[in-house]
Amino acid sequence: MEVICVEGGYPVTGKVSVEGAKNSALKLMAATILAPGVTTLKNVPNIADVHVMGKVLKELGAIVQVVDEHTLRIDTSTVDSWETPYSLVTRMRASTAVLGPLIARFGKAIVAMPGGCNIGARSIDMHILGLEALGVEFDVDHGDIYATAPNGLTGTTVNLEFASVGATENLIMASVHAKGITTIDNAAREPEIQDLVDMLNEMGADIRGAGTPVIEIHGVGELHPVTHSVTGDRIEAGTFAAIGALVGEPITVRGFEPDHLGLVLRKYEQMGIEVKRGHRCITVSRSRPISAVDIQTLPFPGFPTDMQAQTMCLLALAQGTSIVTENVFENRFMFASELQRMGSDITIQGHHAVVRGVSGLSGAEVRSPDLRGGAALVMAGLVADGMTTVLDIYHIDRGYERFVEKLTALGAHVSRKEVPDMEALDV
Ligand code: UD1
Repeated sequence: MEVICVEGGYPVTGKVSVEGAKNSALKLMAATILAPGVTTLKNVPNIADVHVMGKVLKELGAIVQVVDEHTLRIDTSTVDSWETPYSLVTRMRASTAVLGPLIARFGKAIVAMPGGCNIGARSIDMHILGLEALGVEFDVDHGDIYATAPNGLTGTTVNLEFASVGATENLIMASVHAKGITTIDNAAREPEIQDLVDMLNEMGADIRGAGTPVIEIHGVGELHPVTHSVTGDRIEAGTFAAIGALVGEPITVRGFEPDHLGLVLRKYEQMGIEVKRGHRCITVSRSRPISAVDIQTLPFPGFPTDMQAQTMCLLALAQGTSIVTENVFENRFMFASELQRMGSDITIQGHHAVVRGVSGLSGAEVRSPDLRGGAALVMAGLVADGMTTVLDIYHIDRGYERFVEKLTALGAHVSRKEVPDMEALDV
């Protein structure tokens, strides 16, 4: 079993570049199904979730070739299956992103019910309701979802109950060839959706309104493959920005659009953190104590749920009391109980967390509850007294490329270590 060991108290400063966005790359990979032929994706992060999506595509018959560390060539002319097995979907909920493209291309799909991060119910009812409105018929049997479109797809207006990222993406991809116009009302506005729409339009689709709550998809014929570069990862960037804010020494984060972190950076400024915005980069530092602020997570352009744990880590050391409200995922405070082991003072009441700032944290053995919570625990270890050991780091590997190496290059005393798995040994 591998763990990450962090020795707290060392300066962490310098420049770091972020990779392409995980949440974009996964959907772009799925979208290649829509354009039979060879699509080249650049700036693809080399992370576990991308490897899983590569396996999903291979399972469907695509040829996925790694050109270099961050470039994939995906030939989807050979796709001849529309079934995604449970073994892969259970490892990554985002594999349900192939549902829309498979329906659009073949008029059918079989996708296992999703698993993924342990952060709530995460059902896909909105995907299903939206696709049904377009003419897709569903059957659920033994944990698999069988989708068919016997009469093809016909454009209509779909009102999403919540601006779901995954449902918006699946509906966009499913409807690229639908008859007439499909309108998604209350669509998600995340930058990764804009990236997906940009690539689909480059492929020949006619999609309007990405980045607004109303997206219109005008059905077109065949799409053609393209070469596309994945947008920079705003959440990886935000994580390093939070580290700069926590440790205090300047950290320059490059390779993403600062606007994609708009509200996060404004909140950080309210917390007394200095943020300098540049062209595709920011520099974050802090010379005074962190001030408490309240945050609530919301769909973009609101405060991203994927930055909640890292920000809670900052607030745990702030002067004063902050309220953190989680509106997107019902089960995303598991990080807080691990941080308690390091001496924080956090009370959870439903989807609110009352975070009373403490003067310091102490190193402890803690368990990554999920992807962002895991990164936030490593972050906490950087300023904690003594040694922090973070277990279950496979969560971190799902979404952060070379996290330990990047931190080490910034001066952190952090390393991966192989240790015996006591649970497996039944000790
Ligand atoms: C995506 C991101 C994830 C991010 C989240 C919110 C990827 C791979 N993952 O996840 O990192 O935290 O957006 O920004 O892009 N819901 C339903 N029914 C549905 C769909 C969603 O109840 O049909 C609920 C979910 O359980 C959750 C909330 O809606 O509570 C938001 O989900 P959604 O926006 O769809 O997130 P994901 O696409 O799963």
